[in-house]
Amino acid sequence: MELNLDILNEISKKCHDSFYILDTKQLKYNFNELLEALREFYPESYIAYSYKTNYIPKVCSVINDLGGYAEIVSDMEYEIAKRIGVDPCKIIFNGPYKNKAAVKELMLSGGIVNIDSTAEIENIEELVQQYPDKNFNLGIRCNFDIGDGVVSRFGFDVMSNEFVNIIHKISAYKNVNLFSVQCHFADRSIETWSSRTEKMLDLIGNKIPFIPDIIDFGGGLYGKMPDSLKSQFKSNIPSYQDYANIVAKKFAGKFFDCDKKPKLFIEPGSALVGDVMKFACKVESIKNIRGKDIATVLGSIYNINPTLNKKNPPLSIYASASAADRKYYCDLDFGGFTCIESDYLYRGYNGELAVGDYVVFGNVGSYSIVLKPPFILPNFPVIEFDEVTRKTDFIKNAEIFDDLFQTYKFNF
Ligand SMILES: Cc1ncc(COP(=O)(O)O)c(C=O)c1O
Repeated sequence: MELNLDILNEISKKCHDSFYILDTKQLKYNFNELLEALREFYPESYIAYSYKTNYIPKVCSVINDLGGYAEIVSDMEYEIAKRIGVDPCKIIFNGPYKNKAAVKELMLSGGIVNIDSTAEIENIEELVQQYPDKNFNLGIRCNFDIGDGVVSRFGFDVMSNEFVNIIHKISAYKNVNLFSVQCHFADRSIETWSSRTEKMLDLIGNKIPFIPDIIDFGGGLYGKMPDSLKSQFKSNIPSYQDYANIVAKKFAGKFFDCDKKPKLFIEPGSALVGDVMKFACKVESIKNIRGKDIATVLGSIYNINPTLNKKNPPLSIYASASAADRKYYCDLDFGGFTCIESDYLYRGYNGELAVGDYVVFGNVGSYSIVLKPPFILPNFPVIEFDEVTRKTDFIKNAEIFDDLFQTYKFNF
């Protein structure tokens, strides 16, 4: 969506001076483009959206309407999926900790639970014995070296006896189908996607002596970004097509002449939502401290980049002050409203600026709103603006004092 000063003023009149803007058109576009890229090589490809990345119900609902699955890692995220009306058969429960009651409920409703450790099997065993006439779908999370220098803590080490034992144990249950084989690694480079794909596919027919219904490669894909952001990464940023060219092509090759065609799953978060949100705020003050220009905005690094990754997001300025007040600045830093010394949203801005201008930060859709701490101020609203009807929809209202303080006691 193309923003301009009129639109920003129009939104601002209805809510706060600071707000997130959601672009669901872009989200739909991303989902369809990624799925098509995979399906071009392997038609039985599916996307399970990683709720943790951005669990705004509207976002999750758009994915559901497009036919996407829900990838959840807690009973809290399970509740979001239920409230949206996701078919339980389209919910994949991952994560290193799982609430036992939620696991049982989801398995009884036909959902998929991917176990992360042997400790989880006790709960499953109880369920299986309690319902001997019901069939359950279970998955297993796999862990191996993908050459990224990290010892991942998720899933079973596929080289261990524990892995062999758990496969035997699951196979021995008459009413459990080892339905899904899953992995997830945080590294987004194409090189590690190549090794994760090869190593997962090597398991099938070897350590896993049959073809499961689902082979799930997890998340950890880069999303779309402008060149200004791409250039701040050490490695090349692959496109959706680049990932599909690795994972779906190798997959199609592996199962080319097999009667059983397993489903290929990926669990993207950032790749789908990274570029679907912007954060708009106003310049509150500009000052110079020992030669350094600093503008303070009604926003914080915790609004847009709580993982503090030190990258400058894409930035646009919309001048709202009269031309006479404007000044050209070199190497100006945008600081946040908090009292954390390192709270800078952007460093090294060169251009015109004045108090009252809007500053809009792009690519703030992933791991932003879900990680925003209730520090110093409640969070700002999320809106969607329709360019045709000029309607502002509140996707999330501005948080108020009581949203944050209702669990604390004031009377002692
Ligand atoms: C199991 C699982 N799947 C998918 C994702 C999504 O990762 P990303 O947003 O990097 O694509 C994560 C993120 O931690 C995850 O743990």
